[in-house]
Amino acid sequence: MRTKIVAGNWKMNKTYKETKALVKELKKSIKDVALVNTRVVIAPTFVNLQKASKMTKKSVIEVASQNMHQADSGAFTGEISAEMLKGIYVDIVILGHSERREYFGETDELLALKVDAALKNNLEIIFCFGEVLEDRKSGNHFKVVESQIKNALFHLDSDAWSHITLAYEPVWAIGTGETASPDQAQEMHAFIRELVAERYLSDVSEEVSILYGGSVKPGNAEEIFSKADVDGGLIGGAALSVKDFMGIVKAI
Ligand code: 13P
Repeated sequence: MRTKIVAGNWKMNKTYKETKALVKELKKSIKDVALVNTRVVIAPTFVNLQKASKMTKKSVIEVASQNMHQADSGAFTGEISAEMLKGIYVDIVILGHSERREYFGETDELLALKVDAALKNNLEIIFCFGEVLEDRKSGNHFKVVESQIKNALFHLDSDAWSHITLAYEPVWAIGTGETASPDQAQEMHAFIRELVAERYLSDVSEEVSILYGGSVKPGNAEEIFSKADVDGGLIGGAALSVKDFMGIVKAI
């Protein structure tokens, strides 16, 4: 049975104080929820990761980083390595977010290196990809997603896939209030699973969790999550409010 995941990507939000308050509230609220085969992950900013990691040590909530550098160490001013994340008990990293691709020039080739570095350090990866509106309009969305996945992940052997979660985030649905319809999400997720099945054995494709991200809210989460190939969500804006995030967790 595939694991369900609700992950909150806090992006560049929440100060140290605000992080402590939000984690505290989430910890409290999550105690009342019976989680069946479901993981709950939060990804605060780098400076607040250690605090969040410490605070959630005894909670079911897991902590992820929003990014990392591909090198082990060295002269890379402003960057953070996989080993540094492991050192503060962060075992998950989000890679390939469209904002990293768009504003920080992250390419498929660079992401393949980051993927390798994360796996080498035994980090789990939530790997994001998705098409921009133009691609969707011109009918290129399947091709775009296929190349993003192939270029960054298909060099891996089957075993590595137990450390990978995929996150389909159509760029046109991120922070816009516009979601892919549940059917559009399902159509793409089924396509992705088939793609993985063609490259690997079906036990890999059947086991990999595929999350949907893009304007998921408590009001639309249940319908999106009800789709056969949607195994949870990567949540942006709604992850910054206890009420909304918990609403989404309950929906799953
Ligand atoms: P929103 O939920 O704010 O659309 O953001 C989605 C996202 O980018 C999560 O990584």
